[in-house]
Amino acid sequence: MSVYLQCQGLRKVFGASVVLDDISLEVQEGQCLVLLGPSGCGKTTLLNVISGMLAADGGELRCNGRLMDSAAKGVHVPIQERGLAMVFQDLSLWPHMSVAENVGFGLRIRGMKANDRRHRIDTVLEQVEMGGFRDRMPNELSGGQQQRVAIARALAVQPSLLLLDEPLSALDARLREDLKLELAGLLRESGVTAVYVTHDQQEAFALGDQVAVLHGGRLAQLAPPEKLYDSPCSAFVARFIGSSNLLPFRQLDGYALIEDHIAIRVLAADVPMEGHCMVRREAVGVLDKQPFAETSDQVILAGVCEQTHFLGERKEAQLRLPSGERLRGVTAGHIPSGAPVWARFPKNAVRFLAD
Ligand SMILES: Nc1ncnc2c1ncn2[C@@H]1O[C@H](COP(=O)(O)OP(=O)(O)OP(=O)(O)O)[C@@H](O)[C@H]1O
Ligand SMILES: [Mg+2]
Repeated sequence: MSVYLQCQGLRKVFGASVVLDDISLEVQEGQCLVLLGPSGCGKTTLLNVISGMLAADGGELRCNGRLMDSAAKGVHVPIQERGLAMVFQDLSLWPHMSVAENVGFGLRIRGMKANDRRHRIDTVLEQVEMGGFRDRMPNELSGGQQQRVAIARALAVQPSLLLLDEPLSALDARLREDLKLELAGLLRESGVTAVYVTHDQQEAFALGDQVAVLHGGRLAQLAPPEKLYDSPCSAFVARFIGSSNLLPFRQLDGYALIEDHIAIRVLAADVPMEGHCMVRREAVGVLDKQPFAETSDQVILAGVCEQTHFLGERKEAQLRLPSGERLRGVTAGHIPSGAPVWARFPKNAVRFLAD
């Protein structure tokens, strides 16, 4: 596998604000990179720099080894020479063209003969399961169907790079769920290299070979989904990925202090002096009776039950610690709110993160 897209120290400034700061990453040919992060963190701006819609103010961008953007070297290859296709959040089909005309438009301007064009249109419409809709007009389609056509239109021209900016976010939750999985399959089958923007962690995990988490214009972490889930590099990433407990800690004489009375020996050299420690919800047991004896390799924290959630495959209880911090874990049965509870988790399930 070779590197298709390469960003080195990319920087973008709007007026006085630095919107992209020193972004370096690579995407292997045929893989999907997901840009994930909260609103305003720079996802769309980075996508626009990659597409060529915006010129970078610093750093370099290469596609397939070719320099596409470098302010220092005065290089900016225009968007139409980058061999890419884009899909946006808003359903952006041309309203006066039928489904087939929309999908065939890019092929027509590339000079493809009518017969070949028809064949290609049929192939991609089949791929997105819209084969029966070639003569419909966009206003005769549901939102989800329109987005399938937009994806078919992008794939039709066999782009060397496909850029997608929150393509599913205008759809309802159920449809998003279905299309997310279909799209993941489609990207894999078509073998196209893709950059996919979302602020939805589930979507990022389903679609990304690699996920880049952005925070305030900087790259917070770049890793495959499992790695990101298991080993977030900071409390920010852990919080954004979700489903973990985070409790403040500080280090004292080689021990991490949690809630001022639990001390865990710090063995790794790279643990910060203070930050948040992360414990996955599934590692925490919530009990409605005080555990009998405390073994030295376990943490037990007393608190008050706030609520119990039924999540289908398991029940989770949320408790409030004396410090006011909250913790969620797995419980065997319903615990009434206000009842005293104890959270128990193994010390080796705790990770210490910088903020
Ligand atoms: N043309 C512009 N001029 C000035 N500021 C801009 C411009 N475009 C974006 N910004 C600012 O740059 C920052 C990043 O914007 P961007 O659109 O990249 O965010 P995003 O991560 O895509 O957010 P969202 O999830 O809301 O789409 C924001 O603070 C935004 O206000
Ligand atoms: Mg955006």
